Amino acid sequence: MSKHVAVIVGSLREGSYNRKLAQALVGLAPDGLEFTFVGTGDLPLYNPDLDEAVVPEAWVRFRKCMGRADAVLFVTPEYNRSLPANVKNALDVGSRPYGSSVWDGKPAAIVTGSPGGIGGFGANHHLRQSLVFLNMPAMQQPEAYVGGLHDLFDEQGNITNDGTKDFLRGVMKGFAAWIDKLS
Ligand code: FNR
Repeated sequence: MSKHVAVIVGSLREGSYNRKLAQALVGLAPDGLEFTFVGTGDLPLYNPDLDEAVVPEAWVRFRKCMGRADAVLFVTPEYNRSLPANVKNALDVGSRPYGSSVWDGKPAAIVTGSPGGIGGFGANHHLRQSLVFLNMPAMQQPEAYVGGLHDLFDEQGNITNDGTKDFLRGVMKGFAAWIDKLS
């Protein structure tokens, strides 16, 4: 049976390179994985008071969607050497109310991308830190810090560099094996 993977893209920008990267990763994945892109841009900032009052509709939608996922793929840029606020907010929204976290035990993979050479290393590892607390086993190898993102795609969003394409195919193969192992 197919495993259902939720994809969270850390950029809200329309022309996002990381969204292109996420789409390319989905295309390179082995059979047996189904993907759903789950938006985070409409989630009000987490405020525990709202969970005691009128829970925002966007939180309800997000929690339901994530609850159905078997695994989560994060593809995100780095903002100021850390993860973008929308990703952190999504983690917070999904982690509450206390005892009802949608993240608990779900296998994850993190791919960070940047036009710069460091490939979002800081964001990757700050995100990993939160996943430890959320009890989400994050794939350790292969690590995926993708630099030079602005030069990676043609006009149709295809990856132009065969070496990078092979590497990303390996990342998705590793993620599929990671999900299988933890199922
Ligand atoms: C950036 N960018 C950036 N890049 C990086 O490698 N390390 C960093 O710490 C930052 N910090 C940062 C902060 C903010 C607020 C912005 C808007 C941008 C540059 C960033 O990698 C670049 O804009 C990417 O194109 C963003 O990814 P998307 O939107 O193309 O997916």
